[in-house]
Amino acid sequence: MLVQGKTYRTIRFKDHQKNSIEIIDQRHLPHRFALETLSSSAEVIRAISEMQVRGAVLIGAAAAYGMVLATREAAREKNPNRYIHETAKQFKAARPTAVNLAWAVDRLEQAILVGNTPEERLTLAHTAANALVEAELVACRKIGENGLPILRALFEKRPRQPVNVLTHCNAGWLACVDYGTATAPIYAAHAAGIRVHVWVDETRPWNQGAKLTAWELAQQGIPHTLIADNTGGHLMQHGMVDLCIVGCDRATARGDVANKIGTYLKALAAKDNHVPFYVALPLSTFDLTLQDGIKEIPIEERGAEEVTKITGWTEKGFQTVHLAGPDTPAANYGFDVTPARLVTGLITEKGICAADSTTIQKLFA
Ligand code: MRU
Repeated sequence: MLVQGKTYRTIRFKDHQKNSIEIIDQRHLPHRFALETLSSSAEVIRAISEMQVRGAVLIGAAAAYGMVLATREAAREKNPNRYIHETAKQFKAARPTAVNLAWAVDRLEQAILVGNTPEERLTLAHTAANALVEAELVACRKIGENGLPILRALFEKRPRQPVNVLTHCNAGWLACVDYGTATAPIYAAHAAGIRVHVWVDETRPWNQGAKLTAWELAQQGIPHTLIADNTGGHLMQHGMVDLCIVGCDRATARGDVANKIGTYLKALAAKDNHVPFYVALPLSTFDLTLQDGIKEIPIEERGAEEVTKITGWTEKGFQTVHLAGPDTPAANYGFDVTPARLVTGLITEKGICAADSTTIQKLFA
């Protein structure tokens, strides 16, 4: 997608030999567009846990590339298999909710261990990582194509007005390799000449909406309005939201979906106001080993300081200030689960499907 008119992906191998990875450090957006080089698997693991890269699809892609770096490192170890396995475990532990991370690491580990020599393993790792990343990119593009008819139908009902979409968190291209998941149908609609306006939830406490979604929509020239997290219900009651589209970090076999904390409340408000609530996700975000998302999906808990303090941009650069009193205890659950019954449809690379076991099974047939 575009950054000041120039096309970027969120992640790439920096050099021809694939010794290092280049990422956009998302902690600095929208105030600074900073590229960072990661040269070891440990650096990639840190970048994932500290959210320099974030979003389900992107952390899967980062881990896949990171496992290539781990394969090179393993060649210098006494026990390369153990090194690869231990590194894979560290990747998976970096963030627990998005299943794309474990999915990507498992695929890479399986591919690497087939090789007999360090050179062969490196070639296998490169091939598997590139295939995975390219497939994710294509999946996101197709999510856009498959979601487009939903926006087109709403636009055709009232052609003089823009389609008002509400989204939560950042499930944009910054959360993927390109296109995004929730944003892909929005970008496709914009490209097709459909007028779209996006309500962007700020998404406390990390503010992915305020920092990232608003920025990337602006870069693509898509009209949008930032709103405080609790605004969506009011907008829906007043007919100001035509549909919600959100991303997903893990979907179960019966269609329960985990996404950024606060998604569930938007789904409840959407149900009460007859607003369609769509979840956009590639097949890599399904965890078919799970059924009951509320009981079974692991929910990441992050540091209390993300809630009690806030970081913003000043003339002196980034500054962190206290929001709550210094002794206020805080809890920071990163994700919540929206039960399948609140989901109008799942927009995937294979088409739009109902959030139920039978239809989901057919997607994987
Ligand atoms: O904590 P984050 O920023 O990684 O959470 C991101 C989300 O919740 C996205 O909506 C989700 O990953 C889907 S986007 C591919």
